[in-house]
Amino acid sequence: MDKQNILVAYFSRKNTDSAERSSTEIVASVVSKLLGATQYEICTLSGYPEDADECNKIAKKERDENARPELRNQLPDMNGIAKIVLVYPNWWGDLPMAVYSFLDKIDTENLDIYPVCTHEDNGLAMTERILAQSYPKANVQKGVAIRGSVAHSSPFQTENTIEKYLTDRALIK
Ligand SMILES: Cc1cc2nc3c(=O)[nH]c(=O)nc-3n(C[C@H](O)[C@H](O)[C@H](O)COP(=O)(O)O)c2cc1C
Repeated sequence: MDKQNILVAYFSRKNTDSAERSSTEIVASVVSKLLGATQYEICTLSGYPEDADECNKIAKKERDENARPELRNQLPDMNGIAKIVLVYPNWWGDLPMAVYSFLDKIDTENLDIYPVCTHEDNGLAMTERILAQSYPKANVQKGVAIRGSVAHSSPFQTENTIEKYLTDRALIK
């Protein structure tokens, strides 16, 4: 596999007050390191509040409205990209709406999408199926779930889980 054909795209709520990286950022950087792939961060224009309750409320409203929050950064160069490892947190059993904003803007025809989901209890929930239904021209592959607390507390377990996933999907040898 030509490493340049893979992009790692991730969305994570920014925690601007903290030097600590979010669990999704940690997972995305492990995936990128193991693949030697370029990493693209999906950022919204308005961002999300630090306060957990506030963030939960906004995220739920966006999900209920099937919103497409505006993106802040330029889209990545998709020229020659055949596979995307999509790293996102489980938000209300779904993907954060910003991930749909991103996927709506790129050509997903024949694109292999590998879902990698951070969560606190519910794993991938229905996100693989939702992705396949939302982007029928893409090939949505079996995903993997990583508990956010594990990403923070156990780098070894996190790397092992991701390495096994990428190997099983033949993305690395
Ligand atoms: C708005 C919001 C909704 C969430 N909904 C769920 C959920 O339904 N199920 C779950 O297991 N975790 C849920 N979580 C927890 C996150 O998926 C988990 O903490 C993840 O590791 C967060 O990644 P981060 O550290 O990159 O923000 C939610 C978190 C947020 C902020």
